[in-house]
Amino acid sequence: MQILDKLPEALLPWYAAGHRDLPWRQTRQPYPIWLSEIMLQQTRVEAVKGYYSRFLEALPNVEALAECPDEVLHKLWEGLGYYSRVRNLKKAAQVIVRDYDGVFPQTYQQVLALPGIGEYTAGAVCSIAFNLPTPAVDGNVLRVCSRLLDDPAPIDLPATKARIREGLAAVYPENAGDFTQALMELGATLCGPNRKPECSLCPCHSFCLGYQHNTAENLPVKSPKKEKRQENRTVFILSCDGRYALEKRPQTGLLAGLWQFPNVAGHLPLDAALSQVEQMGLRPRQVLREVSRKHIFTHIQWDMKGLYLEVSDTAGNFQWFTAEEIRTQAALPTAFRQFWEEIENV
Ligand code: ADE
Repeated sequence: MQILDKLPEALLPWYAAGHRDLPWRQTRQPYPIWLSEIMLQQTRVEAVKGYYSRFLEALPNVEALAECPDEVLHKLWEGLGYYSRVRNLKKAAQVIVRDYDGVFPQTYQQVLALPGIGEYTAGAVCSIAFNLPTPAVDGNVLRVCSRLLDDPAPIDLPATKARIREGLAAVYPENAGDFTQALMELGATLCGPNRKPECSLCPCHSFCLGYQHNTAENLPVKSPKKEKRQENRTVFILSCDGRYALEKRPQTGLLAGLWQFPNVAGHLPLDAALSQVEQMGLRPRQVLREVSRKHIFTHIQWDMKGLYLEVSDTAGNFQWFTAEEIRTQAALPTAFRQFWEEIENV
């Protein structure tokens, strides 16, 4: 693709002249680069920064990650969402220790074969850490390319992504790591999502077909979104003598293996909710508060009614945590932590 041929010459000087100073740009080591790319999937740069530093401080290398207890790992990830990402990080670290003596593999195919690493992440790690000509094609890069090429193909189709990846691979310069990051930088700034592209400042406007044809603003094209499934739930925040009832979620499915407040399907009226608590083996003493909260996952939306109850003893199939333990030890995902914050903030 002749248009893409022109990218390195335009982007590399632009990137060198100034870019965001992000913590993972201080290194070319594969372990922190990998970690940053996994954290940045579906998550904003600003949200990732603090998690990234804390995680690296706690687990500075592949061996430390491979040996980290799940509870500690979940706590380091608490609030970032998509927890299968951190479970796969640990699995991949264990593979690296077992099969590669703890040394991060250095070919694209070996990196791609690790758990939780797809073409995007393998491309990012191999180009940034090893300077291999392996594109990292995410939503930002797809937007940039569909505008450059004035390409109306829906970017969520695997065939579109494959075509763009091949087109970019063919024009990769020697300085592969900077080229990958320059493409990401353009897709996150001047050609960023949910706003007008700033074409007048863009180093590519002289050859960008989307700019020339005045179509950039309406690109990329995406296939229609599937409707999210909506579910109502009643969540019980049960307290007794300064302790709160938590239980572990099942080891598979949504939020697998994380802690939760006990909850059931549906929005129960108060009398049904109180009987439910009795069925859990507890005796409600006082209703303290009711709070409604929403949480949106990839495919499901939960509309939750939170019921704060004092109960008379710490029975039932629960673990009873102090406030301090909930703060520092138990990984309580955001869907539930938002009810906890109500308690901390009173
Ligand atoms: N988004 C995904 N990967 C990124 C990176 N390495 N730098 C900035 N934003 C990103």
